[in-house]
Amino acid sequence: MSNNTNAMMGFAPALGWNSWNTFTWDINEQLIRDVADVFVTEGYRDAGYEYIVIDDCWSLKERDADGNLVVDPAKFPSGMKALADYIHDKGLKFGMYSCVGTHTCAGYPGSFEHEFQDAALFAEWGVDYLKYDYCFKPRHVSGELLYKRMSLALKNCGRDILFSACNWGEDNVYEWIRESGAHMYRSTGDIRDNWDSVKELALSQLGKQSYTGSFCHNDMDMLIVGMYGGSNSDFIGSIGGCNDIEYKTHFSLWSMMGSPLMIGCDVRKANQATKDILLNPDLLAINQDPEARGAYRIKPEPQWFHTDDVFMLVKVLTEGDLAIGFFNLSDSQRELSLQFWDMGLPYASGYSLSLYDCWEHKELGVFRERYAPVVAAHDCLVVRAKLVK
Ligand code: GAL
Repeated sequence: MSNNTNAMMGFAPALGWNSWNTFTWDINEQLIRDVADVFVTEGYRDAGYEYIVIDDCWSLKERDADGNLVVDPAKFPSGMKALADYIHDKGLKFGMYSCVGTHTCAGYPGSFEHEFQDAALFAEWGVDYLKYDYCFKPRHVSGELLYKRMSLALKNCGRDILFSACNWGEDNVYEWIRESGAHMYRSTGDIRDNWDSVKELALSQLGKQSYTGSFCHNDMDMLIVGMYGGSNSDFIGSIGGCNDIEYKTHFSLWSMMGSPLMIGCDVRKANQATKDILLNPDLLAINQDPEARGAYRIKPEPQWFHTDDVFMLVKVLTEGDLAIGFFNLSDSQRELSLQFWDMGLPYASGYSLSLYDCWEHKELGVFRERYAPVVAAHDCLVVRAKLVK
């Protein structure tokens, strides 16, 4: 049996779609095929989105007599292999879901003590990505060990399967996840389709920038862009969604902070504003920058004046440019003053910065020493800065 052959798997943050945020339990093969179709016809694939992932609730509640997981025949009558073939034929990749525990969070069989058997089955079906959750974990076993176990099973199952760990940031995951072999790891509890949730998750990961990078990306949870309250789960969607400015800021934060970008809305019904956000090539380029450096935070001057929900993020890009995000997560308009010396660029260097607006897609001009945009409540400005003499 051949082992892992794709040495680049997990190099950049994963881009794709996941069924959970909008559909939770209500999934079926036609939906998944439709999403794959839309990925091609609406330009998601060409923009770099690659993985189509089925989350929880795809199996029967019991394993078969041989201990294998069984696909729910009512939801997926053609079986997973046929669905994987369909997705692969479109030039896309296929993801599935299981759990370290005895059961998944929704109560279906988990992979505990079946890790190698399940990995082999996923490989047989043509799975390219496994999301691995943290519910129903026997308390006497360490989560760290169980992620190591599934990682090893996947790396030796005969197929390249990207390993997406999902333990919600618990048990000091930052300290052990990279060496477990996971290509990405959830660092937060579940996102909900509202502004408070976006803000809470983003603030919780500020300062964690050294815990992300190639082959083990900090996954801040799936995107809610374009959902507008449209989840069939009360937990995720009950408060009614965000406006487009807030979705833009959410996408900018996740892109700048190097999170995988897994779309969570119903892409079959996405409006133009949603597509403009999800398909923004300038933001995607920042997210996918080869060096995958974490973004560091700078407090605007004067520092005593600003609350912690007003900040700049700076990401050093491979070719020497800087991606700079001016984020105003507070509830009133703010001026965010960035002094270039805070990024290593003193006046005496002789350099200025030529700024390009990544949302308006236009040059803003050349600035020396400082730049201080006024940013509306819940909004942001993301620029790509080039050093010029
Ligand atoms: C949660 C997980 C969600 C989703 C859900 C499925 O634990 O964080 O992203 O996968 O389980 O039941």
